[in-house]
Amino acid sequence: MPADFRSQYESYRQMVEYGLAEYLPNAQIAQAKLLDAMRYSVFSDGKRIRPVLMLAFCETAGGDARAALPFACALEMIHTYSLIHDDLPCMDNDDMRRGRPANHRMFGEASAVLAGDALLSAAFETMLDVDYVGDTPPAAVLSAAHRIAWASGLYGMAGGQLLDLETETFDQSVEGVTARHLLKTGALIETAAAVGCELANASREQMAAAASFARCVGLAFQIRDDLLDEEGDPMVTGKLTGGDRENNKVTFLTLLGRDECVRIIDSLTRDAVGYLTPFEGHAFLAWLAEDLARREG
Ligand code: IPE
Ligand code: IPE
Ligand code: MG
Ligand code: MG
Ligand code: MG
Repeated sequence: MPADFRSQYESYRQMVEYGLAEYLPNAQIAQAKLLDAMRYSVFSDGKRIRPVLMLAFCETAGGDARAALPFACALEMIHTYSLIHDDLPCMDNDDMRRGRPANHRMFGEASAVLAGDALLSAAFETMLDVDYVGDTPPAAVLSAAHRIAWASGLYGMAGGQLLDLETETFDQSVEGVTARHLLKTGALIETAAAVGCELANASREQMAAAASFARCVGLAFQIRDDLLDEEGDPMVTGKLTGGDRENNKVTFLTLLGRDECVRIIDSLTRDAVGYLTPFEGHAFLAWLAEDLARREG
């Protein structure tokens, strides 16, 4: 019953909105412009799929989603920082994000760089704050924070973003593009699943299944994003189209064409759903994978 799953999604998303409002409050400070820039991008129309995925995995594996909330919000802060930097003229040079002018178009490039930096730090402040995570065993907090750090940096998102920029020097085969997508986009999605499971004390088998699920979903998510960059409706995606073409990006779309992309997204989604069997009551996660495969925004 998709309508029920949609409302389940909305209630996880609502938790994330409350969490973000608590962890990133307004303040009367001299450097208010930096806080404004951070809050401008965080409190905009993001889908929140990474934090929702973390909360959903935590609950599906038998845990309490509330324990995962600081980590879920931290991941969303890091994702938001990655978008702010991704839009800068030195990267993708995009003017629109989440239906509004990109951060640097509103606040200037220097503030946008700093807003990204400060959001990365805010993520760690949040997940290492005893007021927020004090009821979680310290070893679990360390492990979650370590996973998120790993996935955000050299061996994850930031590393993938570098490969994405160096179009002339790196492997432009389907295998090369796959590896790049798995780093720049897959890593944060995999971490969302892993941290959600781990905070619920999931079994080894469930951890492995969640990782496989998230790799498939992450890759399909970026292929769909590349497709939407060409043919999406900016009113729905909140981003302008054609940027990848202008930047000569090599994607599944340029390598294989539209129909093959759709086929690969479907096949990855079927695989993802197949991996969910070790989780009882995984219908929401299966619906989410399918919904993301068909998304227009
Ligand atoms: C955009 O991510 C960047 C990619 C990794 C494709 P989302 O599509 O999740 O963007 P928001 O958070 O909803 O704005
Ligand atoms: C973004 O990939 C990946 C990130 C880690 C931010 P894109 O550059 O395709 O994302 P959009 O299309 O700008 O959201
Ligand atoms: Mg990019
Ligand atoms: Mg981009
Ligand atoms: Mg894109």
